[in-house]
Amino acid sequence: MHTAMPASQTRRSILCVVGARPNFMKMAPIMAALADLGPELAVSLVHTGQHYDVAMNHQYFEALGIPQPDINLEVGSGSHAAQTAEVMRRFEPALDKKQPSAVLVVGDVNSTLACALVATKKGIPVIHVEAGLRSFDRAMPEEINRILTDQISDLLFTTERSGRENLLREGIADSRIRFVGNVMIDTLRRNLERAVPASQILKEAGKETFLNGHDGYAVLTMHRPSNVDDPGTLRTLLETILKISARLPVIFPMHPRTRAMIEKSGLGEMLDVPQLVQLPPMGYLEMLGLMKDARVVLTDSGGIQEETTALGVPCITLRNNTERPVTVDEGTNTIAGQDPARILAAFDEIMQGGGKAGRVPEFWDGQASTRIAAAIRSWLENGLRS
Ligand code: UD1
Repeated sequence: MHTAMPASQTRRSILCVVGARPNFMKMAPIMAALADLGPELAVSLVHTGQHYDVAMNHQYFEALGIPQPDINLEVGSGSHAAQTAEVMRRFEPALDKKQPSAVLVVGDVNSTLACALVATKKGIPVIHVEAGLRSFDRAMPEEINRILTDQISDLLFTTERSGRENLLREGIADSRIRFVGNVMIDTLRRNLERAVPASQILKEAGKETFLNGHDGYAVLTMHRPSNVDDPGTLRTLLETILKISARLPVIFPMHPRTRAMIEKSGLGEMLDVPQLVQLPPMGYLEMLGLMKDARVVLTDSGGIQEETTALGVPCITLRNNTERPVTVDEGTNTIAGQDPARILAAFDEIMQGGGKAGRVPEFWDGQASTRIAAAIRSWLENGLRS
């Protein structure tokens, strides 16, 4: 497949896409690095509106200095089919209007796949940042999004070495793959000094005495359908968290999906204990502050597995697998699944021995976005599709 740049088109343009919370911290440094390439490259931003709450959306744009989107598609929530279809339907005219040289998508959310699919069918090359991650668990909606987005992408940027192996196994040409490191860690390093301390967050929540008399705290985040949608699984996980909270206070910022499921399943009352504090979803700087000083983070998020590894903070992953194996092999991550015995054993180890020391993986050095911008420039100069 060869699509030469039209001779008349002198000014190249990249249309970047974000949709959901984990996209924002990835896109911020990429847009900054692309802007640094100078005025020959026009960069614009489409927000699909998959996430729209102030806490899930606006706080991130402000804190990370992401430019206001040129276009907001305002798709909102829906079933996977409805949400993906609606993004596609609304993205097509945006693409027609912008006519970019390429579309850049990040991560693995529904908006990532939807926009990649619209672009490639219109013959517009797709750049995928955070390509090649695989959990090998097709029950996970993100895994489907990853596999399909990678198959239709023209330039694929990977965060860890496992990414290239996975892509080659799926028949993707090596010439399309670039190992550049982790843009999420670019954002983390740039913002570490601005992180909001836990004491301030608790004070603002009217819980200033929550940590008094305790030696540190744990942070919990949980939102995956596999953990929160089934009331039995959710109850077992929360019971395990309560056991942990009896030994170390737990700070629990709650994703809207999780809050809704806890309320619907009538599990709210059991969380009403003095050693656990429920908070709304945190902004980026607040979450960074909470993680940075935690003794342990328990999570089912992909990004938090990476951020804790970069921070050297022990992480217990409440899933049976990870698409980010470097966080286990080199970092501070322990996979514990949903089994209370495994979770508590991992917690014991951290309380007794401090957890895995870990090291920061290759290219998680704050320069991934600079490498991406340089690679995009030479790719634009040398023809877009191979
Ligand atoms: C999405 C991503 C997931 C990511 C997560 C981070 C997919 C398939 N999933 O999951 O990979 O880890 O974002 O947050 O794209 N809601 C609100 N306000 C919002 C957004 C959502 O109240 O601003 C509620 C709605 O009730 C919605 C539910 O949360 O139905 C789920 O939102 P959705 O965007 O479908 O998926 P997430 O679970 O957030």
